[in-house]
Amino acid sequence: MHWPPYKLATRDYLAQAQKKYSRVERIYHVGQHHSWSGKDVLRDLLRKHGGIDLPPDKRAALREISSTLLWGELAAWSISADLALQLKTVEAKMAATSQTHDEARHFYTLRDYLLELGGELPQLDGYSHTVLTSILDSSCLAEQLLALQLIVENLAVNTFKALQKAQVEPVLAELLSYFERDEARHIGLGVLYLPELLEQLTPLQAFRLQLFQVKVATLIGWGAQLRRPYYEALGIDLNASMRRGMRLHLEVLAGLRSHCETEPRAIFMASAEQQRMNDLSVDLFFPRAGSHQPQWQRVMLGATNAVAAVGERLLA
Ligand SMILES: [Fe+2]
Ligand SMILES: [Fe+2]
Repeated sequence: MHWPPYKLATRDYLAQAQKKYSRVERIYHVGQHHSWSGKDVLRDLLRKHGGIDLPPDKRAALREISSTLLWGELAAWSISADLALQLKTVEAKMAATSQTHDEARHFYTLRDYLLELGGELPQLDGYSHTVLTSILDSSCLAEQLLALQLIVENLAVNTFKALQKAQVEPVLAELLSYFERDEARHIGLGVLYLPELLEQLTPLQAFRLQLFQVKVATLIGWGAQLRRPYYEALGIDLNASMRRGMRLHLEVLAGLRSHCETEPRAIFMASAEQQRMNDLSVDLFFPRAGSHQPQWQRVMLGATNAVAAVGERLLA
């Protein structure tokens, strides 16, 4: 192993790197500039709203949803630390290091909020557990970057928005807006740096990445089906939330495509036709709250719930 990499401090290399990676490096500096104290922010919000005011049934549903968010933050902390260690480009290393700092703050702040909410935090469901451990255990940087930055981060932002929109609880709503700003930068690292990793993949690695993408997306869909009652208990319109989540994901993929020199073939990019299919499947499996459902759809939803529960037990 040749260490240290002396070229990192040479002027020619730096001039080239600045041209290519200045936007990736900016993620680190913006992160430092907008850093916030979870302890101070949470204390001030609790004081401002006079604590957490939520009936017991909603507290229980919020704990169920938040368990995935909390352990997702811990996983993001470990994975971003892994990326900071393994990414070769210094600017991408800086962005991942900044993310590690953010995720540590997200973890302890959300944990403190949940302790304030009270009660026992439920364990992760089988779907969420499998998604997070698959990313944690992956030895492929492209898989980790795709699944964490472009799928899981996006899902987290969408869940934050759903909790805010449904006005579940004011302390949490304001707290999550701090999280959301940080997560947007983390998605930025994936959008800006994944194209370079995609170019280096062999056809076999590209095929494996597609399988991984499908696996993660499928498990997330079944997990949402399993947690449907908790979203409903919190007054969250899951149909609107899923549609918004898919739109956000398409925007992220479009951003990624704009940074690729050629069409990225190693990941699935949804076409307009697939987008319409996605909307149809959301209407089918996550019908709008209060909408009329014909008998066949009610039977199908009952069967889907039963399959989701069996799948969860098998995975758990
Ligand atoms: Fe986070
Ligand atoms: Fe994040």
